[in-house]
Amino acid sequence: MSDIPDRLETAREEIEDRLAAAADEKVLREIEISILGKKGLVQNFMRELGGLSKEEKPAAGKLINEYKQRFTQMIDARKLRLADSAMDAEIDKAALIDVTLPGSDFERGSLHPVTLVQSRLEDIFTGMGFMIADGPEAETDYFNFEALNFPPGHPAREMQDTIWLKNGMLLRTHTSPVQVRTMQRLKPPIKVIVPGRCFRFEEIDPSHENTFYQMEGLMVDKGISIANLIAVMNVLLEEVFERKLKTRLRPGYFPFVEPGFEMDMSCLICGGEGCPTCKNTGWIEILPCGMVHPNVLRHGNIDPDEYTGFAFGLGLTRLAMMKYGLSDIRVLNSGDLRVLKQFGTWEV
Ligand code: FA5
Repeated sequence: MSDIPDRLETAREEIEDRLAAAADEKVLREIEISILGKKGLVQNFMRELGGLSKEEKPAAGKLINEYKQRFTQMIDARKLRLADSAMDAEIDKAALIDVTLPGSDFERGSLHPVTLVQSRLEDIFTGMGFMIADGPEAETDYFNFEALNFPPGHPAREMQDTIWLKNGMLLRTHTSPVQVRTMQRLKPPIKVIVPGRCFRFEEIDPSHENTFYQMEGLMVDKGISIANLIAVMNVLLEEVFERKLKTRLRPGYFPFVEPGFEMDMSCLICGGEGCPTCKNTGWIEILPCGMVHPNVLRHGNIDPDEYTGFAFGLGLTRLAMMKYGLSDIRVLNSGDLRVLKQFGTWEV
């Protein structure tokens, strides 16, 4: 009889020791290959069968197969044990987490001052039943000028230095083109505001940018008068500045309103006494506005004999400067995070 049974038993003992010492899956896999792989221990025993006599062969073959099964079971059992202890380690680690400790802080973004003022105004106006409308930044001459009663060659076109595009269009110089766009889409009563970006071919200085924000307002209905205009403007300014303000209307010229006004508010820096900011007048020019010109209503397919309306064009960027006491408009487009981080959310 060959010594195969003894050697199989010795191999089993050795495998038991090796498996007990296997601390991770990689080592375990190496052991598995060395035993059950093509060139492994079991195959080596199988190859020895060729040298045995006919009588010995069946019993030895059966024994090798039995040991192969035992080895497989031993390896599987060790695999399970290792997976269990990996899981135990995870659980132990989790048990060390103190859920009562404060979490790690993350950096919060902040809103741009113009965005803050814009959202506040949108709240105020939607509260008064106004809709928020939008229009294209690349505009046609018709909507930016002609429909607003600036005929071609009209000297008032010079009031707004225009950036022309190669295709004959222009970058809108104000949000007013959305007036006629809105009137052509909606029937009165119309109550809309249009916050948006405008562009002018301007020399940049502390109070002028070539890219800035305005907010247009338009209200058209039967019997709308200057009294409605003044009432809405006063609500607007008092809500934004969170205090009672003195305002006044002065005549102002814009071809698309008649009569046209500039609304001034009492200077917040000096309380109306006079200071460099208000050029010692005690007043700050804040809101160009007026009653919509009959020609503009006609371009909007609205009968001026039946309807009247008011419009205003608030300088949003300038309003944000005043609200937050910023003396140079250029910081607002600078993208400087040190500036932006000072503004969180609207503090009311
Ligand atoms: C207009 O743009 C008119 N569309 C306003 C209007 C609308 C009048 C409806 C009547 C009825 P104006 O050019 O004055 O008007 O500009 C309006 C506001 O935009 C100014 O008061 C100012 O606050 C702001 N603004 C104008 N140019 C600049 C600029 N270069 N940089 C920053 N803000 C500007």
